[in-house]
Amino acid sequence: MDGLDREATVSAPGQPEAAGNGQVSPVPQVALAPAKAPAPNLPLRQLAINLNHWYVVAQGKELGTQPLAVTLWHQPIVLYRDRAGSVVAVEDRCPHRQVKLSEGTVEGDNIACAYHGWQFAPDGSCAHVPYLEPQQKLPTCALRYYLVKEQDGFIWLFPGEAALAEQVAPLGVPEWEHLNFIGSLTTIDVQAHYSFLIENLMDMYHGHLHGGAQVWANPVLAGLEADDTHVHAHYDAESYYRIDKIWSATQLIIPALRQLHPEPLDVYYYYPHWMSTLGDDFVIYCLLCPVSETHTRAYLLHFTSLGRFPQLRKTPLAIRRFFKRSFTNSASFVLRRLVREDVLMLEQEQQAYAAHPTYRGPELNRTLTAVQQLIRRQGAVGE
Ligand code: FES
Ligand SMILES: [Fe+2]
Repeated sequence: MDGLDREATVSAPGQPEAAGNGQVSPVPQVALAPAKAPAPNLPLRQLAINLNHWYVVAQGKELGTQPLAVTLWHQPIVLYRDRAGSVVAVEDRCPHRQVKLSEGTVEGDNIACAYHGWQFAPDGSCAHVPYLEPQQKLPTCALRYYLVKEQDGFIWLFPGEAALAEQVAPLGVPEWEHLNFIGSLTTIDVQAHYSFLIENLMDMYHGHLHGGAQVWANPVLAGLEADDTHVHAHYDAESYYRIDKIWSATQLIIPALRQLHPEPLDVYYYYPHWMSTLGDDFVIYCLLCPVSETHTRAYLLHFTSLGRFPQLRKTPLAIRRFFKRSFTNSASFVLRRLVREDVLMLEQEQQAYAAHPTYRGPELNRTLTAVQQLIRRQGAVGE
């Protein structure tokens, strides 16, 4: 699914309707899964995730005809597509001898283990044993299976209690398919607790690290709100980024063309994911797949709006699709640099935490206190 066929439908489960300019109003819509009382004595950097949310485990296009192994919070999971193309997710551990099913093959709607060829159905039940004797019955062993959704180009998996899955929705990424947005993507693979990554993303005062690669400058925290499901920090900032001419993107590579102007910078932690907007032209998401207490994977997605080119709306859809496809990932090189620089800092933070777990450095950004409180509330559920 390349997702380029929709014209103007930008609303999605968990995400509000688009405003008239094609932008997405950043109002939190993701409900809180039931939470236990916070565990104040548990170190933040060792908190589990709240399993009762939808996590991103892969891009839809990563999953072809072969099984794909992923890990979400210590759980090895194998993904594959059935004959209808729907995504199936089951435990990546054959009940027979515990080898990885992801080493096997897809047989119709089932996954077949590489070792003895036992097959398992999408609901995890044992469906076939090649050498079953006439008097023998199929073993009753079963794999755990997971609820999955393919939405906005990604595979979302719910690792918690299945009965709670409908109480929350995956964070919508409506720009993925919207023809008015050009997307760029990169991945984050960092040997650090997810809290370090979220704090980094919410702390706009770390722009010092990125120098000229960052499109905003001089942020001042001007508003902060938080509840049990989200934290929203509003910064008054400046930016040189404005895509209103066909050559505007050259600002990214030629600093002499840059001119700062005021822009609102909003960052949101919609547990467990993150998004940000810079004025009307810029949307960025970080979709998380925490692997363990010391390993986090994520997808970083940036979208540029073409809303300042109203004449584009009058061009044939085929041309608009071609335009979107042609410029997809054109900003990935900038994202990769930002990620490289951030990962270096995050892994140093994790290593320093491991060496000095009781040390508390001074923190001057109030946003991070709110972020830590939210992680504590939600993370306590995973304990
Ligand atoms: S180990 Fe999987 S079929 Fe034997
Ligand atoms: Fe950064």
